[in-house]
This record gives sequence, C-alpha cells and structure tokens, in this order.
Amino acid sequence: MTISPNQPESGGGGESRLRQRIADEIRRHGPIPFSRYMQMCLYEPELGYYSRLREQFGKAGDFYTSSDVHAVFGRLLARQFEEMWRALDSPQRIDVIELGPGRGLFARDVLDWSAKQFPEFARSFRYALVEQSAHLRDRLQERLAEHIAAERAGVFESLEAAASTAGENIIVFGNEFFDALPVEVVDYHGGLRIGLKNGRFVETFVPPTAAELEFLDRYSVRPEKGERVEAPLVALEWMERIAEAFRGKRGFLVVIDYGYTREEQLAGRHRDTVMSYRQHTASASPYEAPGEQDITAHVNFTAIRARGLQRGLDPVALLTQSQFLIGISEETQFADAFQECKLPQERAKVALQLKHLISPTGMGETFQVLLMSAGVAKEKAAGLSGLKLSH
Ligand SMILES: C[S@@+](CC[C@H](N)C(=O)[O-])C[C@H]1O[C@@H](n2cnc3c(N)ncnc32)[C@H](O)[C@@H]1O
Repeated sequence: MTISPNQPESGGGGESRLRQRIADEIRRHGPIPFSRYMQMCLYEPELGYYSRLREQFGKAGDFYTSSDVHAVFGRLLARQFEEMWRALDSPQRIDVIELGPGRGLFARDVLDWSAKQFPEFARSFRYALVEQSAHLRDRLQERLAEHIAAERAGVFESLEAAASTAGENIIVFGNEFFDALPVEVVDYHGGLRIGLKNGRFVETFVPPTAAELEFLDRYSVRPEKGERVEAPLVALEWMERIAEAFRGKRGFLVVIDYGYTREEQLAGRHRDTVMSYRQHTASASPYEAPGEQDITAHVNFTAIRARGLQRGLDPVALLTQSQFLIGISEETQFADAFQECKLPQERAKVALQLKHLISPTGMGETFQVLLMSAGVAKEKAAGLSGLKLSH
C-alpha cells in the first residue's frame, strides 16, 4: 500500500465535492477499481473533468490536440473522408460519426473545408457528434449552429443514437477519444484498487480478475516487479459497440491517438502509460486534484484492432499520423494548409504548425492511425491516399 503524495485535505469547490463523492463511494463499497476512479474524475456529472463548465482545451486549458494546432488536420481528414465516400461508390448519403468531439473544432474544419473544396461530397454527408458531456454538447450546439440549422450536423449523447439516425454508409472517427476512456491498472501485486486511509486516497491491490489476466495474456504483457500495465477493458467494449453500429451498414473506422502495439510492449516499452495533465504540464499523480486534471492512458492498438476484427470489422492499416497525413497531402503538396496564406510570414507559421503535426518530435510518430472497414472491397480500401506510405 502506498500513500499518494501531494493530496490536499480539501481543494476548491468542485474538486473537494468530487473528492468527497469518491471518498463516500469507497466508504460504502470498499476500495474501487482504478477505472471507476478515473471514470468519476473525468465524467462524474457536473463535477468530473469533462463534465464541468471550464476550459479543458487549447491555450487556456490543459492540453492541445491536433485540431488545436491548425485547421489543416480537419482539412486533410476531409480530403480522406471524401475519398472514402468515393471508395463507397459516391452514395447519395454518408454519415460521419465523430466520437468525443470535445469543443468541435475538428468537425467545424471538416464541414467548412468540405463545403469549400468538395461540394459534391459535402451535399451527401451529415456529421453526427457523439459527446457524453452535457456542457460540451451545449458548446457544440453553439459552435455548429449554422450546420445544425441546415441539417448537416447533429449532436448526440450516444453512438447508438447517432447510428440509428444514420444511413447505410458511415465513417466512424475518433481523435484522442480512446485515450480518455477509463482503464484498469495491474501491477506485480495485482489489480489496483483505490482505498481511503485517514481521509486520503491510497493504493491497494487485489488478485487480478480473470478478465484482466486474459487481457494481459492476449494483448499485453504481465507486469514485472516494479512495473504497471493497463488493461483497457472499456476500450474493448467500445470496439464492440462500434462494430455493432456497422451492422447492416458499410464504411470505415478511423481511430487516431497516441498508443502502442503489443510488440512494442514485448520490447519493454509503454508500460505504465497513465498520465495526468494540468495547464499543459504533466502532474505527478492522478490522485492530486480529482476533477481538476485530465487523466489519460495510451491506447493499446493491438487490442482494439483484434476486438474489431473479432466483431466483423476488416483491418485496413495501422500507421503513424505522419505517414497518414503525408500520404493524404503529398499529391496536392499540402495545398490544404497553405491555400489561404498570402504573406511569406503566414506560410512560415503554417509550415511550423504542419511540422508539429507530422514530425517525429511533434505528434507525427507518437500518434497512430488505425483504419478498419466494413463491407468495402479490399482493393478499394487499400487505394486510399492516406495509406500510400504504409507498409
Ligand atoms: C481528449 S478529449 C478529445 C477531444 C477532441 N476529439 C479533440 O481531439 O480535441 C476526449 C473527449 O471524449 C469525450 N468522451 C469521453 N467518453 C465519452 C463517451 N463515453 N461518449 C462520448 N464522448 C466521450 C470527452 O468528453 C471529451 O470531449
């Protein structure tokens, strides 16, 4: 048992209420799994990190995502979605379903750029935003009001609600969605539970569950002394829900996130990837300020790909964000990024932002892209420009 450092006895408003609520649950039920702790920290109604009325994203928030860097991320994906639509034989209707859109910058960029560059595609597609946070859903309604009024976009609370209104061609997309899902943590001593001692959260361990052990043996590794690994069981459930959403439909799944494969773990990397962020700085402990900081874990791509496959999705590719974005834009020489730059200074600024998205020192190599499909001929899927540099 270890006592976590830096825990204030009580914090400001929301934090202390959330701390209290978590403590009450532990008093009632005993130590809780780490996934439950993470779920409450991030999503507890009104008090969780994503549920509170606060700025999580961008400069004023705690982290940047690709859409915060530059509109080119959404524009390049719009280009790729348009190709996917063509690979599906340019149907009259296609629905893009975005999981965890946050404040909706990506959706806005895709909608605006498609209208401008790909009018035929833009006429066929509708954009569904699936966001669990009520407060973020309100913000999405505001940001995308024009598109919503024109019935080009809609905001939904669940994937199932979005899928039920979609036509038979869909693209399911998630950027930094899977890393925000609660995970189980397992170390040499067993499965991690969060208990309470003298009013503080403490870590305790119980024998790992059968589901955790099965996960580690299939998709990850068993932790050695002093190591921790994650068992993202909720991510597997999400893959099942996604595969279910494709039932009777065809299309593509595009998952972009920082993550790893089992091979990389076997080589000794990506153990203990749970991280907490506050104001653009990694914080020492997930127990420090519940509800005040983001908690994430890297995505186990081997596991989510395998579960998709088991549930009927076809694997297309797993490649780096860098390979994917360069593949999409090579032919047009990044015209999507530079089109509106008039002055050399503007070009220089955009070039730097682009570099951040694609270079190994920026987001290019840590972020990976998982592509799967349903009901799409193999050659058609393989012909997507985003896959040009994958091997
Ligand atoms: C790290 S943020 C990423 C936001 C956005 N995709 C971006 O790249 O800026 C994760 C988002 O997923 C949402 N989310 C988490 N769990 C969800 C769920 N079960 N259903 C819908 N959205 C969820 C969170 O509320 C948050 O908006």
